[in-house]
Amino acid sequence: MTPNPSDFQEWLESRQAQLEASLEEALPAAHIAPQRLHEAMRYAVLGGGKRVRPLLACAAAETVGAEPGHALRAAAAVELIHAYSLVHDDLPCMDNDVLRRGKPTCHIAFDEATALLVGDSLQTLAFQLLAEPDDNLSPATQLEMLKLLATASGSRGMAGGQAIDLASTGKTLSVTELEFMHIHKTGALIRAAVLLGARCGTPLRDEEYLKLDRFAKCIGLAFQVVDDLLDTVATTDVLGKTAGKDARDNKPTYVSVLGLSATRALSDELRQRALACLAPFGERARRLRELTEFIVSRPC
Ligand code: IPE
Ligand code: IPE
Ligand code: MG
Ligand code: MG
Ligand code: MG
Repeated sequence: MTPNPSDFQEWLESRQAQLEASLEEALPAAHIAPQRLHEAMRYAVLGGGKRVRPLLACAAAETVGAEPGHALRAAAAVELIHAYSLVHDDLPCMDNDVLRRGKPTCHIAFDEATALLVGDSLQTLAFQLLAEPDDNLSPATQLEMLKLLATASGSRGMAGGQAIDLASTGKTLSVTELEFMHIHKTGALIRAAVLLGARCGTPLRDEEYLKLDRFAKCIGLAFQVVDDLLDTVATTDVLGKTAGKDARDNKPTYVSVLGLSATRALSDELRQRALACLAPFGERARRLRELTEFIVSRPC
């Protein structure tokens, strides 16, 4: 299959616009009390970011034959969790970053206490959204989806990975330890995005589900490997967040542990492994394939 870049670009932009509208609708209006908190929530979510996780959810949903609109709520819920994780990740008690998505971080634009509450509120809003009655999903499926997202976000998933990240600062990690950290802090939510999308259409046979899950794990790890790489090779302008921050903060990353060229080789290996898992889906997995290339070759 020869990828058609302009067609992918069109798909990307149309899904991004639909997601923006879903997020806009899900977030409380800025004039509703408490105004400052709602303004800060909207600041942290709207009008920025690549939207990779919700795009993966939409692409997985399309792979299982779901109507494009049916996965939007789940997709928006994952992005809300992700936005919350970024707000907290940037706090002085964590990575202490001042720039995110090309703008001052939430605690700089507002204040630390507000940023903390933004994270809390975005997280619960994600679950509220996923729990809304949905004509396209059975209540049992919705319950499964709630559990999936909760598990991926909590101490056995993203939040746990962040704890490992903080405890590892200034330490030397083995490749196995580093992989464990990355699989949790970033991989878990990306995996959940794919699996949530897959719940929105015709149920997969067990062996297909396992392949899709393996794909989701590979692309989740690949995403953070590339994030580590970009911290070293990209500029602050392009990234929209401070470049070179990992080395400055003594964070163990793939670049610090393996070096640049082995990290590049690993991202390519993960890309190939991810694509191989999609083989049984043929043309149905076209968007997932295109997103794989997008994630591995992204500039920011
Ligand atoms: C950054 O995620 C944080 C990581 C988990 C590596 P993204 O690179 O997806 O950030 P946005 O959403 O595009 O800003
Ligand atoms: C963040 O990882 C992971 C989460 C937010 C869960 P990083 O700390 O590497 O993300 P950036 O580089 O600040 O975006
Ligand atoms: Mg961090
Ligand atoms: Mg960070
Ligand atoms: Mg990073």
